[in-house]
Amino acid sequence: MNLTIIGTGYVGLTTGACFAEVGHDVTCVDNNPDKIAMLLKGEIPIYEPGLAELVTKNVAAGRLKFTTSTAEGVESGEVIFIAVPTPPMEDGSVDLSFIEKVAREVAETVNPEQGFKVVVDKSTVPVKTGQKVAETIKRYGPKGVEFGVASNPEFLREGCAIDDLLNPDRIVFGTHDERTADVMRRVYSPFNAPVLATDVESAELIKHAANSFLALKISYINSVARICEKSGADIEMVAEGIGMDERIGRSFLNAGLGYGGSCFPKDIKAFISISESLGYPFELLKQVEEINDSQLDHFVSKIRECLWVFREKKIALWGLAFKQNTDDVRESVAIKLAQKMLSEGASISAWDPEAVETAKKFGNLEGDITYAEDQYSCLDGAEALVIATEWEQFGNADLAEIKKRMRNPLIFDGRNLFDPVNLAQQGIEYHSVGREPIKSGA
Ligand code: UGA
Repeated sequence: MNLTIIGTGYVGLTTGACFAEVGHDVTCVDNNPDKIAMLLKGEIPIYEPGLAELVTKNVAAGRLKFTTSTAEGVESGEVIFIAVPTPPMEDGSVDLSFIEKVAREVAETVNPEQGFKVVVDKSTVPVKTGQKVAETIKRYGPKGVEFGVASNPEFLREGCAIDDLLNPDRIVFGTHDERTADVMRRVYSPFNAPVLATDVESAELIKHAANSFLALKISYINSVARICEKSGADIEMVAEGIGMDERIGRSFLNAGLGYGGSCFPKDIKAFISISESLGYPFELLKQVEEINDSQLDHFVSKIRECLWVFREKKIALWGLAFKQNTDDVRESVAIKLAQKMLSEGASISAWDPEAVETAKKFGNLEGDITYAEDQYSCLDGAEALVIATEWEQFGNADLAEIKKRMRNPLIFDGRNLFDPVNLAQQGIEYHSVGREPIKSGA
């Protein structure tokens, strides 16, 4: 099928590459000429494992094209996906102006002679956005244009987006008519995954409800971690024990510094805001947010309690990305942690396998911070090591090397990557989340 994706950001680019990979002819549109120029030269603007290979392969096969022209995309696409940003406004509601602009541009460039078109919202949007998109196309489009509107939320995770897209656990699309639903079924026929076809509003809600539920799991386990700290229980054992219940499941029960990233914080705010405007203030989600914010403050106070003051303390910071396997630092808890320690006068040497450049560019990190050449030189002379991101290579680190390089073998681990007993045996003082600190030699 001929598919067009408008918006070549994280979601648009990965989705476009994967649609091409399963055999569709895909045109990716973006109004940023620099981005399109990069892509035409074979350069990938984001770090996502496996994406560069997929783009190169499908461009070479003639199934993946890039353009700045919406008109070109609208003409070629039987199905037009909208994958533009939906950033948060000051009050937590969603700025839908990019979606509206694309809907209008589609309406103004579509030609009724091009036949039936389906306009699909892929961006995460509040419920009822599909209705607005349909109204906009009707209002600004030419007479006689035949189109359907669908909502098709994505569930990909950064860092494993390609696998999530090619082997999804479910495909959800919502439409209001059978003709549109048939087109969507054809789009997804090459994928081997269960399909849930709903109405537009339900599909829109599924996305917000899914992300909120995952965030809720994280805040829940972080609250249990606080009780573990006060009672001497071990959060890792508790998570294991409750996760063995199939109804609960072990995933998204990793206690730590709380959730960050470009999705959860924004989507939880948006869901609270839309629920309020619909007349049902979602109090539970407000708590989820509050717990998430307090988790970071609690961790900082743990470090402060131990170091006494941050001023002039040399701290090694491992992790800047909002999670492992990405260079994305949007709403990164690691960045917020660095900002808090810097504001109290700490001297930070930071390291991240992928996110150093994005942190320098977008992290807004002011104060006494330097970026190390590698994971271990970051530790030279440090009085404490703070781990903020769950990169696998941090958990596999060489403990002897850590001890050798640091002034004091003292670790604050915000992601529970190590076994406390092992660290104590190695003579390292270790503080983590939801587990009692074990002093060296204990
Ligand atoms: C999330 C969802 O997992 C995807 O299903 C969804 O499609 C995506 O948002 C989106 O809306 O586009 P992502 O933001 O890439 O994906 O990252 P996650 O892997 O969900 O992690 C989010 C945050 O939660 C990270 O900061 C991570 O460190 C934290 N987290 C995750 C925990 O603190 N504990 C856990 O057990 C799991």
